[in-house]
Amino acid sequence: MPFTEADALRSRKDFPALQRSRDGDALAFLDGPGGSQVPAAVIEAIADFYATCNVNTHGNFPPSREVDRRMQQAREVVAVFLGAASGDCISFGQNMTTLNFALSAALGRTLAPGDEVLITQLDHEANRGPWLRLQERGIVVREVPLEASGELNAGELAARISARTKVFALGASSNALGTVNDIALARRLTRAVGALLVIDAVHYAPHFPIDVRAMDPDFLLCSSYKFYGPHVGVLYSKPGALERLPTDRLMVQDEAAPYRIETGTLNHAAIDGARAAIEYLASWGAGATLRERIVDAMTAISAHEHDLARTYHESVGRIPGVRVWGPGFGTRARAPTVSITLDKLTAAQAAASLGARGICVWDGHFYAVRALEALGLAGLGLLRTGVSMYTTRAEIHRLLGALESLA
Ligand SMILES: Cc1ncc(COP(=O)(O)O)c(C=O)c1O
Repeated sequence: MPFTEADALRSRKDFPALQRSRDGDALAFLDGPGGSQVPAAVIEAIADFYATCNVNTHGNFPPSREVDRRMQQAREVVAVFLGAASGDCISFGQNMTTLNFALSAALGRTLAPGDEVLITQLDHEANRGPWLRLQERGIVVREVPLEASGELNAGELAARISARTKVFALGASSNALGTVNDIALARRLTRAVGALLVIDAVHYAPHFPIDVRAMDPDFLLCSSYKFYGPHVGVLYSKPGALERLPTDRLMVQDEAAPYRIETGTLNHAAIDGARAAIEYLASWGAGATLRERIVDAMTAISAHEHDLARTYHESVGRIPGVRVWGPGFGTRARAPTVSITLDKLTAAQAAASLGARGICVWDGHFYAVRALEALGLAGLGLLRTGVSMYTTRAEIHRLLGALESLA
């Protein structure tokens, strides 16, 4: 089922925040890479949780059994979203960063001084900082350099993977430049030396269907607030992978996966909201199963987003005084996230001027600090536009018009 401009317009009615206006003008939310808006279905699911079963899990009374049921259902729906074998592969946490710190600390305990972890210059700090921390234990952290094109070079990557490499932590897609990395190559290279592959799919998950069985990471992380849900971090672990890790956990905590890495009481209402966000996405697809509907919807939404982002990329690059960063929209996969700099204004000044016109775009490094350093943009920042399912062609033209007058 295609997802057309008319569908994007129709979807907007589902998002209460998109009804907001500023001095008569609707707000244009082009800030999706920083977090997307939530549809009413998600807000209702969270409200219903608080209204009907706001109690803790594992009690021998009806509302608690209802929470257990909802948490299990959420694990299963997220598993279907990622193509995972079962809900036992899905752990929840506060956000991706917190889960990745827990994962890296546990994995670090299985490594010896001199063992190597590979990270990249392109990644968000959430997939660098937790691994760099392992240097305190004598682990060597190596870095794949970023090319001026905003891509990782396959040769440079291969040159850094050896028998000493135990973990490769790689982003599926860059939140700063929209680059989509070659996960299949990373899997081949890590498999050849017996290293684990940890994928940060935070920026990838909102824009592409994920199939962990095809991608085959040992661990994959994403964050529901980037795909129309509330703030909940998700960790996928390949069956058997989490059980091998000495995670930080209380003596009373369930040792089995997926609970093994989940400390304290989770945000149950938000987890129920994450489930509702995936079901909302699926409602835009066709198919007999939830998985088919998710893949159908995500494929169609992806094409719509790609089309708008490509239009923006081509047009903004023609405005004198604008420089576009990151890879182009060729044949390779590309997330619908486009970053620019302007000759006459800093990214912060441009974002403030656009913000004053009701156009919401991010400026800065978006925690991809090392990528900006590598591109010679440290301290300067980028002006980043993100396309979401509810973005319209009119919003893109409004942004282009505003940038023309600013540049
Ligand atoms: C690519 C990427 N990785 C990781 C994160 C961190 O996610 P969280 O906010 O859930 O910790 C972000 C957040 O912007 C991101 O864009």
